[in-house]
Amino acid sequence: MEQNATTRDGDAAFHEMYRPQFHFTAGTGLLNGPNGVVYLAGEYHLFYERNPFGNDWGNMTWGHAVSSDLMHWHALPDAIEPDHAGTVFTGSAVVDNENTAGLQSGDEPVLVAIYTAAGGSSPESDGQPFTQCLAYSNDRGRTWNKYGHNPVLPHIVGENRDPKVIWYAPGQIWLMALFLDGESFALFTSPNLKRWTRIQTLSLRGSECPDFFPISVEGEPNEERWVFMAANGRYLVGSFDGTQFVREDGPFTLDFGANYYAMQTYGNIPAADGRRIQIAWMAGGVYPEMPFDQQMSIPSVVTLHRLPEGLRLFRNPVAEIESLYISGQEWRDLSVAPGENPLSEIDGELFDLTIEVDCGKSAPSAFGFRIRGEEIRYSRVDQTISCLGRSAELNAIDGIVKIRVLVDRTSIELFANDGRLCMSFCFTPPASDRSLEFFAEGAPVHIHTLDFHTLRSAWSDGTADQ
Ligand code: FRU
Repeated sequence: MEQNATTRDGDAAFHEMYRPQFHFTAGTGLLNGPNGVVYLAGEYHLFYERNPFGNDWGNMTWGHAVSSDLMHWHALPDAIEPDHAGTVFTGSAVVDNENTAGLQSGDEPVLVAIYTAAGGSSPESDGQPFTQCLAYSNDRGRTWNKYGHNPVLPHIVGENRDPKVIWYAPGQIWLMALFLDGESFALFTSPNLKRWTRIQTLSLRGSECPDFFPISVEGEPNEERWVFMAANGRYLVGSFDGTQFVREDGPFTLDFGANYYAMQTYGNIPAADGRRIQIAWMAGGVYPEMPFDQQMSIPSVVTLHRLPEGLRLFRNPVAEIESLYISGQEWRDLSVAPGENPLSEIDGELFDLTIEVDCGKSAPSAFGFRIRGEEIRYSRVDQTISCLGRSAELNAIDGIVKIRVLVDRTSIELFANDGRLCMSFCFTPPASDRSLEFFAEGAPVHIHTLDFHTLRSAWSDGTADQ
């Protein structure tokens, strides 16, 4: 492997042609799912499945980065490395504030990672099964030790993996969601992160990387629900009393795009903040000749809303993205006829734009954007939005269709009607095409509002280094 400040083509590191500029990537090597996302002492930790030795999948290791604002990331050395028990698959991290596991050695609370040792995934672990193990850090994640009596949860079935652990305050107990096999998952509890008791087995179409968390209904702080989610974003809404999750509704789909997978929500967020922050692997992008492979999604806030059809999750980018805005432009009550393009003068490649179209006051058959050749099309006739081969139903609310679009060098993320419908995509546009277009078809479109922001690179202002 080469390690240089510039690539062979002379691009500065982190400014290469297909390097996302406000989405997380590993400096080098492949990444897949996020791991151990947790907040501690002013830092959002992002661990992630990483191959330190190449752009193909293998040698899975926990890569590590921290951020104070979820936008600018500072790379730290790899946190957890393979051993004779296996390479290091997905897991979670918790702050053991009460020192229940007895692993704290100094004054600071200990950070404990619960991960899958993927036995059999390397020559060193040949013949070993998949088990769940602990590693811990007494210096805010800078150095790590593996627990001396691993595994803490022996093999159960198949490739059981991806433990997601949270503190269940009402019962003063740890709670783990684990993928078992097929479409089967289980919940466990533990007083100390070391002894685990299975309390429930659940099934959900979709496998791997479960997340399980409480969330209150927006505007109804006393109406708490629990969400159980699989890697493909299919989720159940229900209740949990410390012993059993009871499904009330679902499964529903969190993201209708092609590239939103293995999401995790942050733990230990201060009560004064209270957001349920989620980050996902944008699985499946293509990054020709780059020193890295794959990227994370924009961190987003998940909220639960009571709709006429029931309780549903919404998702919107974290407000911290505004720290990257460099220039803005806004239009109010603009009519765009077929053939016109109000965005023709705009140059750039990183955008955050929000449009509200008044479908009551106008009657186009369709409208949308063409971003570097990729079309986002809203069919007013079919009430569907489509992009990169995927379509989803999107209805006007009081006559208005609202669409927010984030564009990075290799991704397009759509948040429609305030996050009620989300679609995340990777794309690999031709480098020379920086075109941007808003189009109307059939009849003029009445734009109620169009807010447009150009973003700076998160790697360009000196606060990020890798
Ligand atoms: C998807 C996944 C996880 C597994 C990891 C291995 O994120 O398949 O289930 O732990 O990748 O890299």
